[in-house]
Amino acid sequence: MDLVTVTDDGPVRTVRMNRPEKKNALTLDMYDAIAAGIAGVKHNAALRCVLIAGCPHDFCAGNDIGDFISASVKGGVLGAPIIHFLDVLLHCDRPIVAAVQGHAVGIGTTMLFHCDYIIASTQARFSTPFVRLGVIPEAASTMIAPRMMGHARAFSLLVMGRPMNAEDAKEAGLVNMVVPPAEVEAEAMKAAQEIAALPPHGVAASRKLLRGSRDEVLARMHEEFAVFQARLRTEEARHAFEAFMARKKA
Ligand code: COA
Repeated sequence: MDLVTVTDDGPVRTVRMNRPEKKNALTLDMYDAIAAGIAGVKHNAALRCVLIAGCPHDFCAGNDIGDFISASVKGGVLGAPIIHFLDVLLHCDRPIVAAVQGHAVGIGTTMLFHCDYIIASTQARFSTPFVRLGVIPEAASTMIAPRMMGHARAFSLLVMGRPMNAEDAKEAGLVNMVVPPAEVEAEAMKAAQEIAALPPHGVAASRKLLRGSRDEVLARMHEEFAVFQARLRTEEARHAFEAFMARKKA
């Protein structure tokens, strides 16, 4: 079974995370496959919009914590595929729609700060337990989230690790539409097709202006990576990861 699938439906490319038994926790190979799916659109002018989706019950449970343990043991170096994935997401010049069902944890939420139109299920839950896990928020979320939702909500989400439900996320400006679970995929595809039918150069130019300086975002990502990697080397982080992996044995 492919852990990431890429399918083209007219002008819309769907990149789907497909590891349901692990709630779509992302392995390094999955980051590479998602990045390849997104980066590939630049070679095909007919593809005008990217749709990121998960499996029916979950969007993404974040980075595979087993991989975090390996990274922690190996001196706290983040896998190159994670950095590459975020770079591709940032440099994608087509609009990105996301269809969020169930859990969106860690990078499952922070990747959404780089999307343009988000449909969430009434059951969606957004959480970023980075600090509780001994690390810090990434993907330039420390810059984009406070600008989007204000410092108070960004602090609650990113630092305190308090989850947001779909309505909270809509209220915070992260999500465009909240629909029943059975309608998420169809609504997301409808939005993607609507965007794809707009004049592409006008979309690209407007989106670029709306998004602002990529250099500024990239600089923040790298600032975050440095702190994140230092945190990965700490006992605190290793214990938090190991506690998650061992929680069912207790
Ligand atoms: N890394 C590795 N494995 C993960 C995972 C992750 N990020 N998220 C879930 N899994 C695994 C679980 O260990 C479990 O594996 P098992 O069946 O072999 O025991 C399986 O996926 C199902 O998860 P489970 O916890 O049983 O499902 P749930 O419905 O009770 O809870 C979550 C779902 C997403 C709330 C919970 O799995 C969770 O908190 N995951 C960790 C999220 C996280 O902290 N990510 C990193 C952010 S920086």
